[in-house]
Amino acid sequence: MKSRKLLPELSGYRDLQAMAQELKSTAMEQLFAEDPGRAADFTLQAAGLQLDYSKHLLTRQALEALLELAIDCGLEGDVAALFDGEHINNTEDRPALHTLLRASSSHGMDDRFKQVCESRDKMQRWAEQLNDGLRKGFSGATITDVVNIGIGGSDLGPRLVTEALKPFHGSVGCHFVANVDPADLQDTLLDLDPETTLFIVCSKSFRTEETLTNSLAARAWLTNAGANESDLDKHFVAVTSNLAAAAEFGIPSENCLPMWDWVGGRYSVWSAIGLSCAVAVGWTRFREFLAGAEAMDEHFRSSDPAANMPLLMGLLEVWYSNFFDAGNHVVLPYDNSLQRLPDFLQQLTMESNGKRVNADGRPLPYNTGAVLWGSAGTMGQHSFHQLLHQGTLLCPADFVLPLQTHTGMHEQHRRLVANCLAQSRTLMVGRTPEAARTALLGRGLDEAEADRLAPHLAMPGSRPNSVITMECLSPATLGALLALYEHRTFCSARLWGINPFDQWGVELGKEIGTEILGRLCGEEGSGEMDPATERLLREWRRAQT
Ligand code: F6P
Repeated sequence: MKSRKLLPELSGYRDLQAMAQELKSTAMEQLFAEDPGRAADFTLQAAGLQLDYSKHLLTRQALEALLELAIDCGLEGDVAALFDGEHINNTEDRPALHTLLRASSSHGMDDRFKQVCESRDKMQRWAEQLNDGLRKGFSGATITDVVNIGIGGSDLGPRLVTEALKPFHGSVGCHFVANVDPADLQDTLLDLDPETTLFIVCSKSFRTEETLTNSLAARAWLTNAGANESDLDKHFVAVTSNLAAAAEFGIPSENCLPMWDWVGGRYSVWSAIGLSCAVAVGWTRFREFLAGAEAMDEHFRSSDPAANMPLLMGLLEVWYSNFFDAGNHVVLPYDNSLQRLPDFLQQLTMESNGKRVNADGRPLPYNTGAVLWGSAGTMGQHSFHQLLHQGTLLCPADFVLPLQTHTGMHEQHRRLVANCLAQSRTLMVGRTPEAARTALLGRGLDEAEADRLAPHLAMPGSRPNSVITMECLSPATLGALLALYEHRTFCSARLWGINPFDQWGVELGKEIGTEILGRLCGEEGSGEMDPATERLLREWRRAQT
């Protein structure tokens, strides 16, 4: 990536600071009153999704100034560089070509696209053979269940997509194991039969401790049940860029599907890392998922900045992080099958943008990657929404709402929709102390009691939120939704000057973890650790006796 300006050096930054200052004391409802076209104009459509961003502390003037930031930071060129396969992951000297994984043509990258197509063919074969009952285990019984063993990007994406598309599932059961805590594998295997279970080991590096440990335990589970070493190819598939390590584990190359260094783990669900999803929903549906993402890619690379959904969401993230000091972002899917969305987005946004230096290694004197959190509505309403409505922390929110339900229970679904729209509106309108007092008097309280309680019932309102809707949650709209957040993450990264495609910050913890494991296994190690760690090591030893 090119050397670039820091955020405060971009044109319009100071004007935006002044606008933000004023908007901090402006009621959002006043923005609607002053601008009758706001509800319609602050809405965008793309790839089967609709974004309503009217309930934000944002004027048309502020929006223009934010778009100016994007122009001045060179985002247009960055988007072209992303799609053209330039080495925008500059610290690892690689492209970030997750968009090619869902492309229907090569975009001039013929060799790579050929590899993608070959991988798709292989995925399709595995998905179809499993769904047609053609894959047999060591005893000759048909494989009925697959277990995805992976962690981070090799787990969160496939798990989310598989769960979200449950209405489209075929007959093969799909399960996920990620944690190195043996309970995760043990609980999953409880209901499974070794004779009919296939493990898909997803690990780009094939070096990840959690995944290798669980895979070895899965192998022991099979051999303990009577499988020979020579039967293991009937029960293991690998998705990896490290074929040698997979072979050493005992997975032959014909059972290996590729991963490439030009795809980041958290951007990899579109590759063979998504094999478990393809098995769960079938190949046709998986292709629809890819097509939905490709439609969002097309929108992102070709729409005008003012109509560009990922760009606007990225600008809003920067707006609240850097001009309102929000430091967090809450995602509230009003669809139970999207309950894993916040987990997936956590890795996507926080592993990508949790950086303190820019792509040139320059320390950044401002907030970057916000904490992303959330849970499926309506459960959050009965736990943390109190803080959203009345807390002192500003929590910009995204509501995600499919308008139709797959359940057939339309009346009950209506309640879910009502709750979603109510929360979005309540965050905006709030309740004045006077309105709170009137409501209390209406409940029959006397004046003194109404005065005492009114401050507790009053709510500031003007709390920013977007509503993302879609007709229904389908493979295509899900693909578009995930691609939307990927590109949003890219836009905020580039405004902050960050390379969102590396993750150096996860390495030291892994190294120290290996050192500590050595100590737990009785090795002397290179010397004493800090007193706090040494005390905890002694505690662990005591608990083992
Ligand atoms: O530790 C972080 C990480 O490298 C993620 O970026 C990645 O998604 C995950 O570990 C799993 O890595 P792998 O697919 O190589 O096992």
